[in-house]
Amino acid sequence: MEIAVADNSRIHQAKLRSKVMSVDAAAALIPSGSTVGMSGFTGSGYPKAVPLALAARIEAEHAAGRPFGIRVWTGASTGPELDGALAKADGIEFRLPYNSDPIAREKINRGEMEYFDMHLSQVAPMAWQGFLGPLDTALIEVTGIREDGALIPSSSVGNNKTWLDRADRIILEVNSWQNPALEGMHDLYYGTALPPNRVPIPLVRPDDRIGDTCFRVDPDKIVAIVETDSPDRNQPFTPPDAVARSIAGHVIEFFRHEVAKGRLPASLLPIQSGVGNIANAVLTGLAEGPFDGMTAYTEVLQDGMLDLLRAGRLRMASATSLSLSPDAAAELNAEMDAFRDRIILRPQEISNHPELIRRLGVLSMNGLIEADIYGNVNSTHVMGSRIQNGIGGSGDFARNAYISIFTTPSTAKGGKISAIVPQVSHVDHITQDVQVIVTEQGLADLRGLSPKQRAEVIIENCAHPDYKPTLADYYRRARQGSYGQQSPSLLAEALSWHQRYIETGSMKP
Ligand code: COA
Repeated sequence: MEIAVADNSRIHQAKLRSKVMSVDAAAALIPSGSTVGMSGFTGSGYPKAVPLALAARIEAEHAAGRPFGIRVWTGASTGPELDGALAKADGIEFRLPYNSDPIAREKINRGEMEYFDMHLSQVAPMAWQGFLGPLDTALIEVTGIREDGALIPSSSVGNNKTWLDRADRIILEVNSWQNPALEGMHDLYYGTALPPNRVPIPLVRPDDRIGDTCFRVDPDKIVAIVETDSPDRNQPFTPPDAVARSIAGHVIEFFRHEVAKGRLPASLLPIQSGVGNIANAVLTGLAEGPFDGMTAYTEVLQDGMLDLLRAGRLRMASATSLSLSPDAAAELNAEMDAFRDRIILRPQEISNHPELIRRLGVLSMNGLIEADIYGNVNSTHVMGSRIQNGIGGSGDFARNAYISIFTTPSTAKGGKISAIVPQVSHVDHITQDVQVIVTEQGLADLRGLSPKQRAEVIIENCAHPDYKPTLADYYRRARQGSYGQQSPSLLAEALSWHQRYIETGSMKP
């Protein structure tokens, strides 16, 4: 059923106004068993009305004894109205690529939801390769629809271009909370192709614009449009504590040292900063100097990066999502004209593209769950089996960065867990992709070091004093009793730290 469109509607193409309908009517167009490609990257730019209505419908179907589930593809994590609501309704059979929603996490860890955790740069190309199956519906939030029918993207781009191109039909949420001044900020590159037709991507500086500002779509595929007025929902950041400030201090000192040695330019190289409070603390530290004229080629633009832009330290930032706390989002909305030319939002296959990360020489900084004494990093699985979030873009950046840095507090769970262990319980980043590890205790520069040299530096510089003697003792015995001496290891003992935590609630012997 069509519904009336207000005079100030953001839908400027007359023909498309006839497709406006109620949120329930739009949700009814998504059948059980279908695959839905949704917008959303962190708590930004995700559809906020149709998933909620769909979740209510799924609950009603389940109450009537009828099974109902869908497969959900997104850009990355989304908000509670999408992942939270659908997971709570037991409506997601399969999910990709990155999730940080606590309800969905619980379902995944109970084995009730299939989750395909993949590199974020690979989602769009793999969807095109076809083995993920057909995409039935694209459900995409936009800021507005222009008179020529082009779609103005909202606060994240993610995989929207691919979902819009690949889906059989399209449902749009036009969100008037999104600032209309976002128009012009996006750079949507339409030149990607599968081999053997792939060509170099013509981007050689982080500020190059190589694409369109709006999505082009086949209007006949649009089956429903819903008008909304709902805020993005990113978590507020906690102010950096002593641990985060100390980690940030070590990273900045490292950059100073690299500049002094002539290994980095005075304005550094484009920075990439991962998710979380420590990443934000490093950005806050960078605002205090001494680097000017910096650029960012990253995945999410968080509060700290906005501060760097405002302070003039950061010349420009390229990302795929505005991952801002509610206060910072309000500030950006108020000052959009001042920032629009200095922020570029790209599809995630471009923001995270290995070719571009390698070409630009990105300095990557990501969090970890645990690292072992040889520098292998686990970013995803607590105690080797329980997913926290997912690999996100950390693999895209770590493997291809100019310098790949990982940061973490040296302990977790009030000191009961050491973040530095004899052997990681799950590997996301192999030792070759991990060049610097930083905890509040210090920084281990692992570049050019053999495994044994790495172990000594990591234990000495990064381990917490409560665990350092035990790690040193383990390593000393491994030097004597290991099967080989390239990466000495006592296999049966190496993972006993995790088993001890599972059994006693502490890694301490
Ligand atoms: N063992 C067990 N649990 C651990 C742990 C460890 N070694 N280290 C951290 N945790 C737990 C914390 O206790 C916390 O649990 P809680 O929510 O129950 O309190 C949770 O993991 C998150 O840890 P936190 O200290 O808040 O870290 P964070 O917000 O900095 O996140 C990662 C750290 C690794 C989870 C996060 O960086 C991540 O998801 N990384 C992978 C994706 C990525 O790097 N994306 C950016 C690429 S662009």
